[in-house]
Amino acid sequence: VDISVKATGGNATSPHQYGFLHEDINNSGDGGLYAELIRNRAFQSSNNYSSTLDAWSPVNGASLSLKDLDEPLSKALKTSVHVAVGASSSSKGKNSSQVGLANDGYWGMDVKIQPYAGSFWVKGDYEGSFTASLQSNLTGEVFGSTKIKAKCSPAEWVEHEFKLTPTKDAPNSNNTFSLTFDAAVSSDKHTSPDIDFVKRVADDSLVSQGAKDGSLDFNLISLFPPTYKGRKNGLRIDLAEAIAGFHPTLLRIPGGNMLEGNNKDAWWDWKNTLGPLKDRPGFSGVWSYQQTNGLGLMEYLWLAEDMDLEIVLGVYNGLSLNGDIIPQDELQPFVDDALDQIEFVSGAASTKWGAVRAELGHPAPFKLQYVEVGNEDWLAGGAEGWATFKEYRFPMFLEAINKKYPHITVISSGSVFDGYDIPKPAAGDYHIYGTPDSLVEQFNLFDNVTTPHIIGEAAAVHPNGGLGWNAGLLEYPWWSGTIGEAVSMIGYERNADRIIGAAYAPIIRSLDRWQWAAVMIQFAADPAKTTLSTSWYLWENEDKGSYLFKGAVFNSTNGDDVPVSLAFEGVHPGTEAELTILTGPEDPYGFNDPFTGVNVVKTTKEKVVSDKEGKFAFSMPDLSIAVLETKGSKCDKRKREMKQGLRH
Ligand code: AHR
Repeated sequence: VDISVKATGGNATSPHQYGFLHEDINNSGDGGLYAELIRNRAFQSSNNYSSTLDAWSPVNGASLSLKDLDEPLSKALKTSVHVAVGASSSSKGKNSSQVGLANDGYWGMDVKIQPYAGSFWVKGDYEGSFTASLQSNLTGEVFGSTKIKAKCSPAEWVEHEFKLTPTKDAPNSNNTFSLTFDAAVSSDKHTSPDIDFVKRVADDSLVSQGAKDGSLDFNLISLFPPTYKGRKNGLRIDLAEAIAGFHPTLLRIPGGNMLEGNNKDAWWDWKNTLGPLKDRPGFSGVWSYQQTNGLGLMEYLWLAEDMDLEIVLGVYNGLSLNGDIIPQDELQPFVDDALDQIEFVSGAASTKWGAVRAELGHPAPFKLQYVEVGNEDWLAGGAEGWATFKEYRFPMFLEAINKKYPHITVISSGSVFDGYDIPKPAAGDYHIYGTPDSLVEQFNLFDNVTTPHIIGEAAAVHPNGGLGWNAGLLEYPWWSGTIGEAVSMIGYERNADRIIGAAYAPIIRSLDRWQWAAVMIQFAADPAKTTLSTSWYLWENEDKGSYLFKGAVFNSTNGDDVPVSLAFEGVHPGTEAELTILTGPEDPYGFNDPFTGVNVVKTTKEKVVSDKEGKFAFSMPDLSIAVLETKGSKCDKRKREMKQGLRH
């Protein structure tokens, strides 16, 4: 392959070409990127789920019962747990009067010698202390424990905060967190259905400050390990670093299907995700599990700021997954809500919603250039929903947003390929989930498209020659799928004057509970399982933003190596460059395996020097990706503009 690149012409490069979509799927939020260790911390219920004691178990035979008290913790968190001495609670032995509850986390907890920040709310009559501890679920060995002095009141809910630093690393993640209190009572003025137990304990003189009636009410029991950039209510460090490690520049939030919700009463309402955790009601999600709303809009914005990401902000537009359609005459409040959301993100601190953001710790507006209306609306609401989207829905949002925020590019959640002649000055969104072959075939898709688009979701998910969606998704990104992605990405990038950026989706997956495979990063409670997929290595190399050439070889003739010769106008003989070549395993279906730790991606780097005509020459094996970069050479000024795709 011979490529000659002129010093003039070509398409402008996007400064935010590659990134990711985040929504809470595969427990990628709760139990994933959101660092909270306690599962079901507030017994939340929502449209699809009722309150449950899931993940909780009694300590020392305590009786645990869910209650909707007359005075709940908050309007948002109505259900709490009543912890009482149980019939089988033991009064013998060390700490015999301690009862409480234990949580086994999101299928385990990583316990290390590091400071954990905990908190819980209690209501009841108690002057003793609480014990918070982290221990093995297998052996009971306690790795760390702390006492917290009670400041309880029977009249109101009181928050208790604590720090807990284990003295030993746990050997595995099969651990639990427990919270106990002294169930014994100190005087006969306290009456209890379990008075015999309480008296026995009091007679043993083990304790003198037990809880009245041997019971207390708890809610919002939370425990965080250290978080990414030390943010309160923040992100799990290893997962945030794995994401930051592929150098993304674009973040599409809050979905995906999550934005649309299961129905018109259960969409991802950003207002429910702000402020103190006790005021976040939780969300039924769309991926078969209850969510906390802990990873809310503000947390997403901090994430964008911490990783320097351009935001594509999704706003709900009245179409939901079950086909609910908010009609035109009821739509204006949703348009207004989207304007409020935009003001929250990017308005001055003197505006109504900008002031709320300032109150939450960020007086300066966040940069907001892109707003997407809905998600995959050629599907949401069916054919009728899509018709309404084109007829009035998108135009109403477009007009209102651009009237108030003329600098914002409003993005339709459908593309020109979905039969939508997108009105100017808006952009479209095209989602590409496919086979390696179909991705390669889309190499030229955008060459003649004049309307700007984002690729809001992209990934290789099915093998070639299979049954496509009918056969489900491959479980891990695999090498030839990754090469298919590479070819299609070069297609987006060489049209970067119109392809605003591309987002991989979904980004992470819990190995313990997931709904969508083939994601960029796999994880479990044990950080040792965090695994970067083959596609992570591709996307990591994509966004360096300063290279001369990027190429991918997919199905070369007879599987032979492909000789490449590159000439760049203005590049002198003897110019040094670094060539990175990614190759994979012999088996094109090879993948990076979280259970064996096998990494099939091989990265080689070598120095190449331009010949006497100023040309670089090298060869690329079949199923490989190459990136050629210069470091401080004379062509630095031009290099971001001089990129070419190679498809063989
Ligand atoms: O990325 C997973 C899902 O795929 C998204 O939620 C949805 O937009 C798409 O169908």
